[in-house]
Amino acid sequence: MTHTALVTGASSGFGASIAEALVAAGFRVFGTSRTAAAGAPGVHMLRLDVDRDESVAACVAELAASTAGTEQLDLLVNNAGRAMVGAAEETSAAEARSLFETNLFGVMRLTSALLPAMRARGRGRIINVGSVSGFVGLPFHGVYAATKHALAGYTEALHHEVRALGIDVSLVEPAAHRTGIVMSRPIAPRGVYDRGRDGVERYIRDLIERGSAPGQVARVVVAAAQARHPRLRYRVGAQAWLAAWARRWLPERWFAAYMRRTLQLG
Ligand SMILES: NC(=O)c1ccc[n+]([C@@H]2O[C@H](COP(=O)([O-])OP(=O)(O)OC[C@H]3O[C@@H](n4cnc5c(N)ncnc54)[C@H](OP(=O)(O)O)[C@@H]3O)[C@@H](O)[C@H]2O)c1
Repeated sequence: MTHTALVTGASSGFGASIAEALVAAGFRVFGTSRTAAAGAPGVHMLRLDVDRDESVAACVAELAASTAGTEQLDLLVNNAGRAMVGAAEETSAAEARSLFETNLFGVMRLTSALLPAMRARGRGRIINVGSVSGFVGLPFHGVYAATKHALAGYTEALHHEVRALGIDVSLVEPAAHRTGIVMSRPIAPRGVYDRGRDGVERYIRDLIERGSAPGQVARVVVAAAQARHPRLRYRVGAQAWLAAWARRWLPERWFAAYMRRTLQLG
């Protein structure tokens, strides 16, 4: 039996790679983008801006028309997301809200729109793409970390709520991988943070450029999609495992000192 998947943010990076890997694994795949971008071969692209209710409704309607009902959907991969660099003080509430709109509320909008069909059918799977920033507060990435911490909490709660209804929910947590992720900067930067912010941004951009290919994340998503009993959390790669280990087992002071030394913060 062919399974049907919807992957958000499938025009580039992890999403394109996940969509391609799901096609290779035998899924019928729908991908999304805010533009009419072409997807990987075999991926049927739909237009979607997760920030907007009406766009989510239109995308779900188009999916239903293409599949003779959203109850045909077996797998939802909430991958679309953006990043933001900037000190907490120099990031306005409006800027923060706009990132939450995509990274958290976008996931909630689409999930809530597709859950009724999964519930009616008594089965389905949802995989959210989180981040190491969902359990570490990287300096000068506070709002991004806030969105991914929020997503982690939301995903864990949802996992418990829908499990008895036959729906599995997982969170995939990558570290830094080679994608063109959009990292917006503060509209009103403050000079006092220039050295720290720019240094951490350089460090992260370098990690991303040297990071492994998005295929590593795609393989984990496919494994979670096909697992008989999927786990709640999947950490991707050595960096993510190491960060999780250190966060859990090192005394907080050591962990904080290690992070400040690595990032060359005073
Ligand atoms: N790269 C990393 O090292 C890394 C590490 C940990 C977690 N992540 C997470 O991985 C996910 C994918 O990021 P990526 O690195 O693959 O970046 P990417 O190449 O920039 O891909 C992001 C995707 O999200 C889509 N998107 C952005 N805003 C959207 C919106 N409002 N509505 C719908 N789609 C939207 C973009 O599609 P369009 O522009 O075509 O609409 C694009 O396809 C994100 O959730 C990110 O936080 C990335």
